[in-house]
Amino acid sequence: MAVTGCQSTGKKKKKKEDEGAAVGTTGPTRPNDGRPWNDAGSLQLPRSVGAKPSYSSVSINRPYVALTFDDGPHATNTPRLLDILRSRNVKATFYVVGTNVKRYPHILKRMIAEGHEIGNHTVTHGNLTKMSPDQIRQELRTSHEAITAATGVPPKTMRPPYGAITASQKSWIRQEFGYPSILWNVDPEDWKKPGSSVVASRLVNGARPGGILLVHDIHSASIDAMPQTIDQLLAKGFQFVTVTQLIAMDGQQ
Ligand code: NI
Repeated sequence: MAVTGCQSTGKKKKKKEDEGAAVGTTGPTRPNDGRPWNDAGSLQLPRSVGAKPSYSSVSINRPYVALTFDDGPHATNTPRLLDILRSRNVKATFYVVGTNVKRYPHILKRMIAEGHEIGNHTVTHGNLTKMSPDQIRQELRTSHEAITAATGVPPKTMRPPYGAITASQKSWIRQEFGYPSILWNVDPEDWKKPGSSVVASRLVNGARPGGILLVHDIHSASIDAMPQTIDQLLAKGFQFVTVTQLIAMDGQQ
């Protein structure tokens, strides 16, 4: 099954929605199948992953950004990317798809061993706005458990495929799973294959303090763009942190 990018439907999200209030008390209750949700160790984490239901960037003045890679791992592109990141001592966040988690658990293990972070990007990469709450639960839970089984480290954030998610879904997912929904504010549209130099210049020119940069590590040209992207951002004074490190800084000047 072809896995497409995270683009389009979420691209023009209203900022207002991402700045919603702290976790509410309404919404569907926990899955009632006899197993507590935190059997994989995840539920009690809200404060460690910010207070908001969703982030597309954070409010800071210091030049930190989060580099995020979606839809992998890919058998060859992701290891090549990991080599590039390691050679520059850059930490990133990977929103992996559950089907690939099962295929390449060794690549996830390498990500964790090298200091990167892994987030939940569902199992089938479907559009959450077209799913029932129980379907969404199944997607998130199965992916959560696969990532945890592969690495021993439960994911702390999720990213909705295509950025497609409603305010209500953000709220109950945050409440039920502890996950903030992580969007982005720089999208080079690498899935349209504009070429590596265009991908790099869009990322470099779009980056601002507190920014979340979206890239897809399933595309070879996106990996080709990374050395120049990272080197130019470092030259501009940016530093790279993981998503949970970035949102922990939200509001700090
Ligand atoms: Ni995606």
